[in-house]
Amino acid sequence: MTVLNILTFPDPRLRKVAAPVIKFDKSLKKLTEDMLETMYQGNGIGLAATQVNVHKRVIVIDVSDDRTDPKIFINPEFEIKDNKSLFSFSEGCLSIPGYNEEITRPDKILLKWQDVNGKFHEEEPEGILTVCIQHEIDHLEGKLMVDYISSLKRERIRSKLRK
Ligand code: NI
Repeated sequence: MTVLNILTFPDPRLRKVAAPVIKFDKSLKKLTEDMLETMYQGNGIGLAATQVNVHKRVIVIDVSDDRTDPKIFINPEFEIKDNKSLFSFSEGCLSIPGYNEEITRPDKILLKWQDVNGKFHEEEPEGILTVCIQHEIDHLEGKLMVDYISSLKRERIRSKLRK
């Protein structure tokens, strides 16, 4: 397994929209393994392929306390089941090192995805997994958690990380 280089905000490549995965082959499996390794090494709970400069709709997540529950979501998408049910969480991002921001998101969603073999799944996630999935799917759309905060705060983070 290889630890991949993570792009850091404000790298413009983090703004690319990822393309759907069509081929469920060995190279996809290798990418997910490398992404998990990269996420664990960086002590993150989620990573999107966009962050390692691969613009495909692939995310990996592990929200378990003991870091032994890797989850892989290919072509993930979600629908909001109840837009009045919200959850606030202090989010971090491996592409915005050193910063946490309290972000409010819907907490009742139906998630649909494919596994590494192309098989379709759906589930209503619970707890931190719900916000983590939305954060990672945002990455696939070129969206970052700093887009949820004030532009003043975002510029401050941008100039600090540029140094
Ligand atoms: Ni992130």
